[in-house]
Amino acid sequence: MLNDDILHAIGRTPLIELRNCSPKPGVRLFAKLEGQNPSGSVKDRIALQMVLAAERTGRLRPGGAIVVASTGNTGIALALVGRARGHRVRVVMPENIADEIPRTLSAYGATIEWVPAEQGMRKAIAVAQGFAQREDELLLDQFADPLNTQAHYDTTGPEILDDLPGVDVFVAGLGTGGTLMGVGRRLKEANSATQVIAVEPHPGNQLQGLRSLAEGFIPPILDLDFLDGKILVSSRHAFRAAAEVMRREGIFAGVSSGAVLHAALKVAQRLPRGDVVLLFADGGWKYLATGLWTSPPRAGEGEELDDMMWW
Ligand SMILES: Cc1ncc(COP(=O)(O)O)c(C=O)c1O
Repeated sequence: MLNDDILHAIGRTPLIELRNCSPKPGVRLFAKLEGQNPSGSVKDRIALQMVLAAERTGRLRPGGAIVVASTGNTGIALALVGRARGHRVRVVMPENIADEIPRTLSAYGATIEWVPAEQGMRKAIAVAQGFAQREDELLLDQFADPLNTQAHYDTTGPEILDDLPGVDVFVAGLGTGGTLMGVGRRLKEANSATQVIAVEPHPGNQLQGLRSLAEGFIPPILDLDFLDGKILVSSRHAFRAAAEVMRREGIFAGVSSGAVLHAALKVAQRLPRGDVVLLFADGGWKYLATGLWTSPPRAGEGEELDDMMWW
């Protein structure tokens, strides 16, 4: 395939059967490997749609500036798309982020603004809004932007259906809800019996990219009634499953993918037979410093992992 632009490499990620993870013969598990996107996560898809739409509608002009509050993947994805399209990108983030994130952002040429760790994403969003007003930068808000859902409806969903026409269950992490809503809608249009299952961290647990609805914020793009169920996963189980999928399948996936696998195995145990699709949102690179592939917590160990910010 010959392409004239890195942005053409976004999407068309592989769907891989996890043959050594399925708990029973009649149930097949398939993982959509979003870490294969050029900046390393599922967020390349939404960054591309949001930036192209802003250009089309004149909200973003050549050489313009974008500002976003992000703890990682969305900021990096926008930094990639901004660089490729000639826009400046400013990312506002809390200080307790692992070094890999700001280093990657700097490599893509993005500017970083820090907010105190204890003030978290709420403060980051407020600071980003300030930049949008004062500096005339375009604020992109993935939690409220319908293009987030649309990107998955237009690309991720159809790609899954092309590879596997009959999906019985779709399991994905819940962050903004864009993946669950967009892919879920497309899959249910093809087969209304498809179940859409959200994966959430236990309240108080930190799993990169995922959020607990119990903490009070429901993203505007998320319609809870649309979901068929949700499964809460602890960081400990997410870590163990991420290490396990490397051991059994040779797949180097991030911590939220581990949470998705842990949840999908619970679903699979209840299912007499069928095909389950798992969304692996990013690869393992950003999480190497956690040591999870070299010294994963054993059963009964590692409770302390639950309360830490795992990046
Ligand atoms: C690693 C990771 N997994 C899962 C998600 C959740 O995806 P969504 O925002 O579409 O709900 C995100 C979102 O940032 C993420 O970064």
